[in-house]
Amino acid sequence: MSNRSLFIAGNWKMNKTATEAVEVLTALKENLQKFEGKLEIAVCPTFTSLDRAVQTVKGSNIKIGAQDISDKESGAFTGEISAQMLLDLGVEYVIIGHSERREYHNETDELISKKAKTALNAGLKPIVCIGETLEERESDKTFDVITKQVKGSLNGISSEEILKTTLAYEPVWAIGTGKTATPEQAQEVHQLIRKLLTEIYGEKTAEEVKIQYGGSVKPGNSAELMAKKDIDGALVGGASLKPDVFNDLISNAL
Ligand code: PGA
Repeated sequence: MSNRSLFIAGNWKMNKTATEAVEVLTALKENLQKFEGKLEIAVCPTFTSLDRAVQTVKGSNIKIGAQDISDKESGAFTGEISAQMLLDLGVEYVIIGHSERREYHNETDELISKKAKTALNAGLKPIVCIGETLEERESDKTFDVITKQVKGSLNGISSEEILKTTLAYEPVWAIGTGKTATPEQAQEVHQLIRKLLTEIYGEKTAEEVKIQYGGSVKPGNSAELMAKKDIDGALVGGASLKPDVFNDLISNAL
């Protein structure tokens, strides 16, 4: 049996100014203190809020993550942000390959694996996202798509590195739509991901890797999703923006 603890992360996407982020994190810090030692919690604000976010949550049980990273270490890449820059601020996590980046910025599995590797080399912990579209699900391609994404996005990641990596299964059709995968639908894909991890890294390592579910997770469904064997947490968009709602979502998940 594994002893994976829950890991719940909030993805704020392109919401909240730095001033607003400080306000929400100040409230969250107080609300979530009671969960100390019970699970891992992270919030991923936009780049411009990261510095103040790290300062605001200092000494609390909330960690800060970024939403993207460059695959390059440094140099002439206008507008890009490096792993080292994030690390220097005190950022611990970074979301990589979110479906919105795959869709709107044409990110491929190959690029995502490079970004994950760059993050790990610098000492950041990646949250690597995968998930099928509605069309892919309806044409029965879910397992093929997930298999390709897992293998491609983790290409070159060692056994030691995968233990610092979280995977997030986010069916694209469930993100921001209010449509959640049923716990059974989610578990079925999580089980496949665990099987793929076992093939690549062996059973012992695969049992340690956390796999989050993402896509319209809310206080009303967090308990039933987290109760599933291979679901080890959540990547939460909309429901992480309001301190009370995020608090209830976590409370119900435990
Ligand atoms: P949602 O977003 O919870 O608003 O559906 C999840 C995500 O995109 O990470």
